[in-house]
Amino acid sequence: MTAYVMESDAEARRLVAQAQANPVLEHLRTTGLSEGHVALDVGCGPGVITEVMATQVGPKGSVVGLDFNAQRLTEARARCAYLGNCRFLDADLRASGLPDAAFDYVWSQFVFEYLPQPEPALAELLRVTRSGGRVVVSDVDGVGMFNWPCPPLVQEGFPKLVGAMTTATGFDIHVGRKMYSLFRRAGLVDVRVHLAPLWVVAGKADARLVEDWDIRLRTLEPVAAPFFGGVEAYRAFSRAYMDLLCDPEALKYSVLLVTEGRKP
Ligand SMILES: C[S@@+](CC[C@H](N)C(=O)[O-])C[C@H]1O[C@@H](n2cnc3c(N)ncnc32)[C@H](O)[C@@H]1O
Repeated sequence: MTAYVMESDAEARRLVAQAQANPVLEHLRTTGLSEGHVALDVGCGPGVITEVMATQVGPKGSVVGLDFNAQRLTEARARCAYLGNCRFLDADLRASGLPDAAFDYVWSQFVFEYLPQPEPALAELLRVTRSGGRVVVSDVDGVGMFNWPCPPLVQEGFPKLVGAMTTATGFDIHVGRKMYSLFRRAGLVDVRVHLAPLWVVAGKADARLVEDWDIRLRTLEPVAAPFFGGVEAYRAFSRAYMDLLCDPEALKYSVLLVTEGRKP
């Protein structure tokens, strides 16, 4: 099993705050999640989106949340315990063990970026989707890269951070833009892509985004520091990035690409 590079004691807190900061219900509705659907949340984490999905499909529908992290699943089960129409599955999304053609709607957010090989994962999502059902992948493209004015320490350091993650874990910071082509090659039809802001910070970032990046940068230190020539150089980069987030004169933004397709 491939480890999840962002794992830490603070990861559940970061994921809950991140999911709650974004209009996920809008993305789910736009891409066709409806009342009565049998739906799957792939890489569900602490279950914030699973909860929204279960509410959207209502008592006539149901949702399965899938993750390979037992702690995340415990949190997700607790969060959704009051709902009678969802359950959780401890499985690797690349070999879920779920039956063929079982779901009307299959969703995955912020998971494909961590997969060294997206094709087998997408094939598994297709396998469990019924004919006429929808597959939806919501993911980043260049997360954290779009900032101006941008100090040289960040400008030069960010590619090192991305290089470290790519080399060490197969992370793909541009996976969002690649999903359209991957969907087409996988045989999905009516493929559409929705572009949404992940954050737009004109000036000082709010406490949620500051904590999010603080957790990210601390968690990645063991992986990234060697690519900076040592811990001190990495910490200097991290401080510069955090300063940039709080710079009232700088614009920071990131985008989300939500790709949807129909299984023929
Ligand atoms: C960044 S979190 C996203 C959580 C949730 N989708 C959200 O948007 O809030 C990624 C999740 O995917 C899970 N994950 C990563 N690779 C996985 C795999 N191969 N199989 C199952 N779960 C995986 C991790 O354990 C983690 O909970």
